[in-house]
Amino acid sequence: MLEDELREACDELVICTDDGSKGHHGYPADILKKMVADEALDAVWIIGPGIMMKITSFATLNTNVKTFVSLNPIMVDGTGMCGSCRVTIAGETKFACVDGPEFDAHQVDWDELMNRQRTYTGQEKESLEHYHEHTCRCGEHK
Ligand code: FES
Repeated sequence: MLEDELREACDELVICTDDGSKGHHGYPADILKKMVADEALDAVWIIGPGIMMKITSFATLNTNVKTFVSLNPIMVDGTGMCGSCRVTIAGETKFACVDGPEFDAHQVDWDELMNRQRTYTGQEKESLEHYHEHTCRCGEHK
Protein backbone atom coordinates (compact mmCIF):
# COMPACT_ATOMS: atom_id res chain seq x y z
CA MET A 1 0.00 0.00 0.00
CA LEU A 2 1.36 3.43 -1.01
CA GLU A 3 4.67 1.79 -1.88
CA ASP A 4 5.70 4.42 -4.45
CA GLU A 5 4.82 7.28 -2.12
CA LEU A 6 6.71 5.69 0.78
CA ARG A 7 9.74 5.02 -1.43
CA GLU A 8 9.78 8.70 -2.39
CA ALA A 9 9.56 9.84 1.22
CA CYS A 10 12.11 7.42 2.71
CA ASP A 11 15.86 6.98 2.49
CA GLU A 12 15.23 3.25 2.49
CA LEU A 13 12.05 1.22 2.24
CA VAL A 14 12.08 -2.37 3.45
CA ILE A 15 9.04 -4.46 2.65
CA CYS A 16 8.19 -7.55 4.71
CA THR A 17 5.51 -10.10 3.99
CA ASP A 18 4.75 -13.01 6.24
CA ASP A 19 4.07 -15.27 3.23
CA GLY A 20 7.16 -14.18 1.30
CA SER A 21 5.13 -12.84 -1.63
CA LYS A 22 7.16 -9.62 -1.63
CA GLY A 23 10.32 -8.30 0.01
CA HIS A 24 11.64 -9.91 3.16
CA HIS A 25 9.92 -13.21 3.95
CA GLY A 26 9.19 -12.63 7.60
CA TYR A 27 8.21 -9.98 10.07
CA PRO A 28 9.19 -6.35 10.65
CA ALA A 29 10.68 -7.41 13.99
CA ASP A 30 13.32 -9.42 12.08
CA ILE A 31 14.39 -6.34 10.16
CA LEU A 32 14.29 -4.04 13.17
CA LYS A 33 16.44 -6.40 15.25
CA LYS A 34 19.09 -6.32 12.52
CA MET A 35 18.85 -2.52 12.21
CA VAL A 36 19.22 -2.09 15.98
CA ALA A 37 22.35 -4.25 15.89
CA ASP A 38 23.88 -2.62 12.79
CA GLU A 39 22.87 1.04 12.91
CA ALA A 40 22.60 3.95 15.32
CA LEU A 41 18.87 4.57 15.45
CA ASP A 42 17.45 7.63 17.16
CA ALA A 43 13.84 6.55 17.24
CA VAL A 44 11.39 4.04 15.86
CA TRP A 45 7.70 4.44 15.07
CA ILE A 46 5.67 1.26 14.74
CA ILE A 47 2.18 1.41 13.28
CA GLY A 48 -0.08 -1.55 12.55
CA PRO A 49 -2.03 -4.29 14.28
CA GLY A 50 -1.57 -4.56 18.04
CA ILE A 51 0.21 -7.90 17.98
CA MET A 52 2.65 -6.65 15.33
CA MET A 53 3.40 -3.49 17.29
CA LYS A 54 3.88 -5.48 20.49
CA ILE A 55 6.25 -8.04 18.98
CA THR A 56 8.17 -5.49 16.90
CA SER A 57 8.70 -3.21 19.88
CA PHE A 58 10.57 -6.02 21.66
CA ALA A 59 13.42 -5.42 19.18
CA THR A 60 14.30 -2.15 20.92
CA LEU A 61 13.60 -3.25 24.48
CA ASN A 62 16.66 -2.66 26.71
CA THR A 63 18.19 -0.26 24.19
CA ASN A 64 18.30 3.53 24.15
CA VAL A 65 16.16 3.68 21.01
CA LYS A 66 12.98 5.64 21.66
CA THR A 67 10.14 3.54 20.35
CA PHE A 68 6.69 4.86 19.69
CA VAL A 69 3.52 3.09 18.66
CA SER A 70 0.32 4.56 17.29
CA LEU A 71 -2.41 2.76 19.19
CA ASN A 72 -5.69 1.88 17.58
CA PRO A 73 -8.17 1.02 20.32
CA ILE A 74 -11.90 1.17 19.70
CA MET A 75 -12.91 4.83 19.60
CA VAL A 76 -16.43 6.24 19.80
CA ASP A 77 -16.54 9.98 20.45
CA GLY A 78 -12.88 10.89 20.00
CA THR A 79 -13.16 13.63 22.62
CA GLY A 80 -12.01 11.91 25.81
CA MET A 81 -15.57 11.64 27.15
CA CYS A 82 -16.76 8.07 26.42
CA GLY A 83 -13.75 6.10 27.68
CA SER A 84 -13.91 3.48 24.94
CA CYS A 85 -10.32 4.14 23.88
CA ARG A 86 -8.93 3.60 27.39
CA VAL A 87 -5.41 2.18 27.43
CA THR A 88 -2.91 1.64 30.21
CA ILE A 89 0.50 3.23 29.75
CA ALA A 90 3.12 2.76 32.47
CA GLY A 91 0.34 1.70 34.81
CA GLU A 92 -1.71 4.86 34.21
CA THR A 93 -5.03 5.12 32.44
CA LYS A 94 -4.87 7.17 29.25
CA PHE A 95 -7.32 7.90 26.48
CA ALA A 96 -5.77 7.28 23.08
CA CYS A 97 -7.97 9.86 21.38
CA VAL A 98 -6.78 12.80 23.46
CA ASP A 99 -3.58 11.59 25.16
CA GLY A 100 -2.24 9.76 22.10
CA PRO A 101 -2.53 7.93 19.90
CA GLU A 102 1.28 7.75 20.03
CA PHE A 103 2.79 6.31 23.18
CA ASP A 104 6.05 4.77 24.38
CA ALA A 105 5.85 1.22 23.05
CA HIS A 106 7.61 -0.23 26.05
CA GLN A 107 5.05 1.18 28.48
CA VAL A 108 1.89 -0.15 26.82
CA ASP A 109 -0.23 -2.84 28.48
CA TRP A 110 -0.53 -4.83 25.26
CA ASP A 111 -2.65 -7.66 26.62
CA GLU A 112 -5.27 -5.22 27.89
CA LEU A 113 -5.28 -3.32 24.59
CA MET A 114 -5.75 -6.46 22.51
CA ASN A 115 -8.41 -7.85 24.85
CA ARG A 116 -10.38 -4.61 24.60
CA GLN A 117 -10.03 -4.61 20.80
CA ARG A 118 -11.79 -7.98 20.74
CA THR A 119 -14.83 -6.68 22.65
CA TYR A 120 -17.07 -6.58 19.57
CA THR A 121 -15.59 -9.43 17.53
CA GLY A 122 -18.89 -11.35 17.52
CA GLN A 123 -20.88 -8.32 16.39
CA GLU A 124 -18.26 -7.44 13.74
CA LYS A 125 -18.44 -10.97 12.34
CA GLU A 126 -22.25 -10.88 12.36
CA SER A 127 -22.25 -7.49 10.63
CA LEU A 128 -19.83 -8.69 7.95
CA GLU A 129 -21.98 -11.76 7.29
CA HIS A 130 -25.05 -9.53 7.05
CA TYR A 131 -23.21 -7.23 4.64
CA HIS A 132 -22.19 -10.10 2.38
CA GLU A 133 -25.68 -11.58 2.50
CA HIS A 134 -27.62 -8.37 1.80
CA THR A 135 -25.39 -5.66 0.38
CA CYS A 136 -22.16 -6.93 -1.13
CA ARG A 137 -22.26 -7.49 -4.89
CA CYS A 138 -18.91 -9.17 -5.30
CA GLY A 139 -20.54 -12.55 -5.96
CA GLU A 140 -17.91 -14.43 -3.96
CA HIS A 141 -20.01 -14.98 -0.86
CA LYS A 142 -23.29 -16.34 -2.24
S1 FES B 1 -12.88 7.73 21.92
FE1 FES B 1 -14.09 8.25 23.61
S2 FES B 1 -12.69 8.77 25.17
FE2 FES B 1 -11.47 8.36 23.42
